[in-house]
Amino acid sequence: MSATAELKSSGLEGVSAGKSAVCCVDQGTLLYRGYEIADLAKNATFEEVAYLLLVGEKPNATQLANFKKSLLAHREIPDDVVDILRQTATQPNAHPMDVLRTCISYMAHFDPDCQSIDPEAELRKSTRLTAQIPTIIGHMQNIIDGRDIVKPDPSLDHAANLLYMMTGRKPSAEEARIIDVSLILYAEHDFNASTFTGRVIAGTLSDLHGAVAGAVAALKGPLHGGANEAAMEMLKEIDQFIAKGGTVDDFMTRAFAEKRKLMGFGHRVYKNGDHRAGILNALGRAYAEKKGPDAVKWFDIGDKVQKIMLDQKNIFPNVDFPCGMTYFTLGIPVPQYTPIFVAARITGWAAHIMEQHQNNRLIRPLAEYTGPAQRKWNA
Ligand code: CMC
Repeated sequence: MSATAELKSSGLEGVSAGKSAVCCVDQGTLLYRGYEIADLAKNATFEEVAYLLLVGEKPNATQLANFKKSLLAHREIPDDVVDILRQTATQPNAHPMDVLRTCISYMAHFDPDCQSIDPEAELRKSTRLTAQIPTIIGHMQNIIDGRDIVKPDPSLDHAANLLYMMTGRKPSAEEARIIDVSLILYAEHDFNASTFTGRVIAGTLSDLHGAVAGAVAALKGPLHGGANEAAMEMLKEIDQFIAKGGTVDDFMTRAFAEKRKLMGFGHRVYKNGDHRAGILNALGRAYAEKKGPDAVKWFDIGDKVQKIMLDQKNIFPNVDFPCGMTYFTLGIPVPQYTPIFVAARITGWAAHIMEQHQNNRLIRPLAEYTGPAQRKWNA
């Protein structure tokens, strides 16, 4: 096999596709603009991390206050977008990721900077989208649940407001912090499939909303962001299997025999574990222990699955595995897990789209042709 054929069949594994100053992902560490992920999860808020990613540096107190003010000012979404939500959110075939993608695309038409790739315009658009995406998710869930729209609450920070708009209930400080940390963990991850999609679109000098809509479509798949929903569905399947008299070991033996991909496990880059998974697992389990045995059960099943995967396949969980159990324990409907991932990753996508535009060259690789040799139409 030639070198290019090998690259193609390996899904570009191990290939550097360009330079970036936004994030460093490797076996040993995960850095957002030089700050390590455990440091950020412990000491920063999502708003601070969003500023760091979008602007490039940690904000000082005044910069943070202004950024938060700007996020607050842009939380509302146009009535026309709420109408689109009403038309799409309850369609039987509409996954919330599809509805969110449609809304992001539609919102471009209301954005005064829509066509501009000027850095200041792009920062304004990125800030607006960061503010608006939680509102789309919240209103969408209100419509699905048949309750009145819950308007954004200016007294609540970004993460707490997201949870509040979805449920109509103000979260506790612990619940808000768990969502906040999950948003920090999900915010950025260098040239993952969705970010790379966004950069390819931006590389044609197309606009930010279009690049983000493409990135949402890429994130939806179960091999990428959709894995957090799929992981929880798998845990529910194991729970039902146990209820019928089976064990986690039996389930896993069958899954291995069927060569089934276990959702929330494995990673293209991390072969010795995902830096983010342990952080979220610890937070989720601590919260579940306060809620009681019905909540802890998921983490107990999860621990067994993780042990068997590690012992028998040497495959570690990625961040989507604890995310599924944690969001479930928080009472978040499963189909909204990947949209919440979008509410975080919008900041990383936007940072990459701006970086691409500011130092652009069209992204256009080669394909190694494997079709028929040249032939005549009128042979
Ligand atoms: N369950 C069972 N076996 C697995 C899994 C898994 N989740 N992941 C990898 N393997 C096996 C795979 O079958 C292969 O075995 P063999 O060499 O015997 O054929 C070996 O490990 C190497 O896997 P691969 O498919 O070549 O790895 P990849 O780099 O192409 O895929 C992945 C990475 C994330 C797509 C894959 O691990 C997977 O499908 N995981 C499940 C979906 C998932 O959790 N995705 C979330 C990714 S990380 C966070 C995010 O983006 O949201």
